Amino acid sequence: MKEKKIYFGTNLKMYKGNRETVKYITELTEAATGWNSEFSIKLFVIPSYTALKDAVEAVKVQIEQGIIAIGAQNMNPNDNGQYTGEISPLMLKELGVQLVMLGHSERRHVMKETDREENEKVLAALKHGFTTLLCIGETLEQKNYNISDEVLRTQLKIGLHGVSAKQLSSLWIAYEPVWAIGTSGIPATAEYADEKHAVIKQCLFELFGEVGKDIPVLYGGSVNPDNANKLIVKPNIDGLFVGRSAWNAVDFDLLIKDALKTILTTTQSGINEFTDIATQLIDKLGGKGNIGALTHCATRIRVVPKNEGKMDKQAIEKIANVKGIFSITNQYQIILGSDIVEKVYDEMQRLLN
Ligand code: PGA
Repeated sequence: MKEKKIYFGTNLKMYKGNRETVKYITELTEAATGWNSEFSIKLFVIPSYTALKDAVEAVKVQIEQGIIAIGAQNMNPNDNGQYTGEISPLMLKELGVQLVMLGHSERRHVMKETDREENEKVLAALKHGFTTLLCIGETLEQKNYNISDEVLRTQLKIGLHGVSAKQLSSLWIAYEPVWAIGTSGIPATAEYADEKHAVIKQCLFELFGEVGKDIPVLYGGSVNPDNANKLIVKPNIDGLFVGRSAWNAVDFDLLIKDALKTILTTTQSGINEFTDIATQLIDKLGGKGNIGALTHCATRIRVVPKNEGKMDKQAIEKIANVKGIFSITNQYQIILGSDIVEKVYDEMQRLLN
């Protein structure tokens, strides 16, 4: 189990002063000792600037042991200069901060930051060796215009412009649909989030090739104890970026423990009965390399094969539980039924990754 890293983090926004932050991360790192050691967990907390110094000091040992990382909520890309009120990479480095979050929805939409600005910051953060967490996400209006995928791709392509493959090991992405964030947010369904994570991963692959597949993509936006378990088991979701539901250490501890338990039970049971169907489907679709895009709807798996000639449609129809297959332009839809489609899809994704 150790091989797959699972990410859990929180952005404290403009909440918790210095004292409260220190208390919170102390409690959280203590709780972390009780988390299932079979998992390789990446925990991070992103407090306000004024709490960074004491936060780093308070968990210095745990930072060294890799138990937690402390991050900043923003950063000016310049080392120094006439930028009143801004904080530079050198200042954050001096405090011992490991991570910098950039492009959070509130920075983009309240402070009106642009993709080009995020790009400058991303390049600076990577240059200075910070783990760089770039947040992206579409607004409700963009979602309603059905341009979410284009928006995400644009944010990635501009935001990561000029990033080299060598720097990718320090890059994380958080998908946070703007409409899902905060007290008035509506959480994305696990299916929707997973679908968008697949789009993000595909774009990262197009930008960086195979190494792009290793960039973790975290989901954020009204993650709570009810939806965390559904989200964390999705094949394209590598971790959870939690706001309000994480700001009490006891609650965050419970949410993480529960999510880890769910991953364990899902991997140990459930999924295996669908492995056979998923394996056969991949094989008869012409193998891993022939599957260009994979999504699903309520009852069907949807595949765009790279080369239709490599598919064996008759053999697909004969696979147990497959009720039929038909094509719409270049996309094939395999009818499985609402009871199993998601599980088979998840297992196909797992086998393809
Ligand atoms: P939320 O915040 O979980 O409170 O919606 C998420 C975020 O802004 O990162």
